Amino acid sequence: MRVSVIGCGHLGASHAAAMAELGHEVIGVEIDPGKCDILNTGKSWFYEAGLDALLARHVPTGRLRFTTDPAEAAALADLHFIATGTPLREDGRGYDASQVISAVETLVPLIDRPATIVGKSTVTVGTVATLQNVITAGARVGVELVWNPEFLREGHAVQDSLFPDRILVGLTSPTARAAIEEVYAPIMARGDIEMVVTDPQTAEVAKAAANSFLAAKISYINAVAEICDLTGANVDDVAHVMGIDKRIGHAGMRPGLGYGGGCLPKDVAAFAYAAEEMGAAAAAGLLDAVQAVNRSRQHAAAALITAALHGELHGRTIAFLGGAFKAGTSDVRDSPALRLADLLYQLGATVRLFDPEALHNARRTHPHLAFADSALDAAHEADLVVVATEWPAFVTDPKLPADAAERVKNRTVVDVRNALDAGPWLATGWTVHQLGRPTRTPDA
Ligand SMILES: NC(=O)c1ccc[n+]([C@@H]2O[C@H](COP(=O)([O-])OP(=O)(O)OC[C@H]3O[C@@H](n4cnc5c(N)ncnc54)[C@H](O)[C@@H]3O)[C@@H](O)[C@H]2O)c1
Repeated sequence: MRVSVIGCGHLGASHAAAMAELGHEVIGVEIDPGKCDILNTGKSWFYEAGLDALLARHVPTGRLRFTTDPAEAAALADLHFIATGTPLREDGRGYDASQVISAVETLVPLIDRPATIVGKSTVTVGTVATLQNVITAGARVGVELVWNPEFLREGHAVQDSLFPDRILVGLTSPTARAAIEEVYAPIMARGDIEMVVTDPQTAEVAKAAANSFLAAKISYINAVAEICDLTGANVDDVAHVMGIDKRIGHAGMRPGLGYGGGCLPKDVAAFAYAAEEMGAAAAAGLLDAVQAVNRSRQHAAAALITAALHGELHGRTIAFLGGAFKAGTSDVRDSPALRLADLLYQLGATVRLFDPEALHNARRTHPHLAFADSALDAAHEADLVVVATEWPAFVTDPKLPADAAERVKNRTVVDVRNALDAGPWLATGWTVHQLGRPTRTPDA
């Protein structure tokens, strides 16, 4: 099938590459010429595991190309995915849907044969109805609209696009359904996933509800971590016991700094705002509590770090490992790691940060911090090591604690993701602090 993907950011570039991998001829439209140029070299403008390999495979053959001109997409494709951004409005009152609306407004009059527009961006309920009006007003031919929210996880975007858990489509006509079944036929042919077909408003709410539930699960275990800190209980054991229950499950149950990134924070905020606006007071209250717990985590982490430094942050140097909002991506949008780094800086510490993929972005957004070119450079003469993003190089590499031990002033590591394999650290003389569980010392 010939398809376009409008908006080649974290979602769109990954989706375009995955569509090419499935055998479609793909044109990506990206309004930013710099990003478009990089993608046309067969590389991504951001780090996402596995993405460069797909771009390198499909851009040189011409099966996948990128342009800034939506007219080229209209000329080539019969199905157009919309993957533009939906950031939170500056006043926090729901999404700014202008990128999505303007992409559709621009594309629709350019289409001169029957086509399907498939929205993948995360939107508030009612946006599909607005876009349907845009299409009705501007279309010269039959243009169908489908809402197909995306559930991929950053850091696993390629894998999740090729092997999704489910495909959700909100639509209203058999023609739209036929188009969506054709584009996803290579995935559905495997026979192991469900395509859930609903009306558009159900698709809109299902995406918001799923992301908010995930955020609630994270905030729940973080709230339990707070109780563990006050009682001496071990939150990792508590989470394990809880997760054995199939109704609860282990996924998303690791306590730490809370959720971040380009999706969950804005999606929970927008859902909470929408709930409040429509008078769903219980839902709004629940979602507000989820956000309040999340906001509190950086303070819990800063308190743990301060305690590990015997109450004194001022004038101390912290080797700060991690800037990306999670491992597997260079994305620093709403990064809990950077929020914590910033707080420690405000409290008077020198924060020397290293991240294997997000250093460039962290430097751009937080130029006041200090930066290092490796984890060991960050550790040089530091008073303490903080592990703030769960990159394997930080949490499972047994060489890091041994090598860093020779550099630091104090062998003290604070793991604010509860992801560290503590054994090699303890074995090389480190004291290990984690949120919601008792401190471990090498001789204990
Ligand atoms: N990032 C994720 O993992 C993810 C997962 C699921 C859903 N989503 C949703 O997908 C949407 C996109 O998220 P993202 O993280 O990719 O955002 P992003 O900001 O990384 O990407 C959006 C891209 O669209 C481009 N753009 C804006 N207007 C355009 C236009 N008119 N024509 C062409 N390009 C245009 C921007 O330059 C940018 O590169 C959001 O609604 C988000 O909530 C994202």
